[in-house]
Amino acid sequence: MNEPFDAPHVIATKRDRKRLSDEQIDWVIDAYTRHVVAPEQMSALAMAILLNGMDHDEIARWTHAMIASGERMDFSGLSRPTADKHSTGGVGDKITLPLAPLVAACGVAVPQLSGRGLGHTGGTLDKLESIPGWNASLSIDAMMAQLDDVGAVICAAGSGLAPADKKLYALRDVTGTVEAIPLIASSIMSKKIAEGTDALVLDVKVGSGAFMKSETDARELAETMVVLGTDAGVNTVALLTDMSTPLGRTAGNAIEVAESVEVLAGGGPSDVVELTLALAREMLAAAGKPDVDPADALADGRAMDVWRRMIAAQGGDPDAALPEGRESHVVTASSGGTLTRLDAFGVGVAAWRLGAGRARPGEDVQAGAGVVLHAKPGDAVAAGAPLMTLHTDEPARFERAMEALDGAFDVEPGGPGGDHVAGSIVLDRIG
Ligand code: URA
Repeated sequence: MNEPFDAPHVIATKRDRKRLSDEQIDWVIDAYTRHVVAPEQMSALAMAILLNGMDHDEIARWTHAMIASGERMDFSGLSRPTADKHSTGGVGDKITLPLAPLVAACGVAVPQLSGRGLGHTGGTLDKLESIPGWNASLSIDAMMAQLDDVGAVICAAGSGLAPADKKLYALRDVTGTVEAIPLIASSIMSKKIAEGTDALVLDVKVGSGAFMKSETDARELAETMVVLGTDAGVNTVALLTDMSTPLGRTAGNAIEVAESVEVLAGGGPSDVVELTLALAREMLAAAGKPDVDPADALADGRAMDVWRRMIAAQGGDPDAALPEGRESHVVTASSGGTLTRLDAFGVGVAAWRLGAGRARPGEDVQAGAGVVLHAKPGDAVAAGAPLMTLHTDEPARFERAMEALDGAFDVEPGGPGGDHVAGSIVLDRIG
């Protein structure tokens, strides 16, 4: 085929800090998907974008070129409006599990296409696969039928949705180019726009356990994604939320499912409940139901009913015992006082090294592996009291997990109070 551009020239344009034209962007994404642009050429271009950025129009065109690389879904035949949520990834972030059935219980359908763990951050599908029998892969017809009947689906994205992003994401993962805001924004939004939801709520994490460590970067990412979504006709808002310490009291797979079920039963840690309700309110408002209070559906068991039906519809047994790690190790406080810091990144890496995440693509994860926290920042701890319990099937993993926790928490003399008292988890709203 006679190609209208050549890759070295497109790379040099961005290397020299110039704008890529619409035609260059359309071509490079399409040619990369057709294997005409080689991986080494695309990685050079991704690095030039990371270093020199893209303006708003370039990012929008890049996003649309990735959408055009695959199919688009259409939920307009459903009897209810749809709303989706996307988190940029964190430690102990199990919010999708209680949130999807909760929002469905309030009359809005939730088509949640989810992913697997990436690095130290957990993946929703890995967590749900710890439920015996549960199946992540659904055909589009099965997904539509479940959305109509149950109102909520959490499943793997099919390979036809934004295939250019799948290829580019895998390349960025191994070329040090994940952290480019234009590339993260276009990657996330190409999948969400192609999915065809009416409304989208973005949970943009900030802090040591997130991709964005600073609030300035997180805000820029959130603003970029909100503009991309809004311009594409998706009612989009973003919450900036704290990820300096893990969410809830568990980081792993089965242990996070158990904690989510506690929330659906009306209990659970206050930060998980707070964020679940904040995101549910945003999703309901964005889908045209601002007056519905999701707290009622959590308290009266309607969200739990939808959870049970959602799990059963995908082959899972909501009453089955969840797997537990065969071995455990308790980390204790060497002195008494107040836990003033518990670092999300350290806990995330420990859970990952215990077997909750994978070191190579495609590896199996351990359903029972992870970290259970017995104290959160602001809690009083006595000398010798348990701070956390590590779980795994392979005791040889404890040593490397303990290394990740070295320096990851502080216990200071004195009682609880002052600066250590946790503030609101929601830092800001954009949209
Ligand atoms: N999640 C995505 O889907 N893409 C990114 O680039 C980063 C996080």
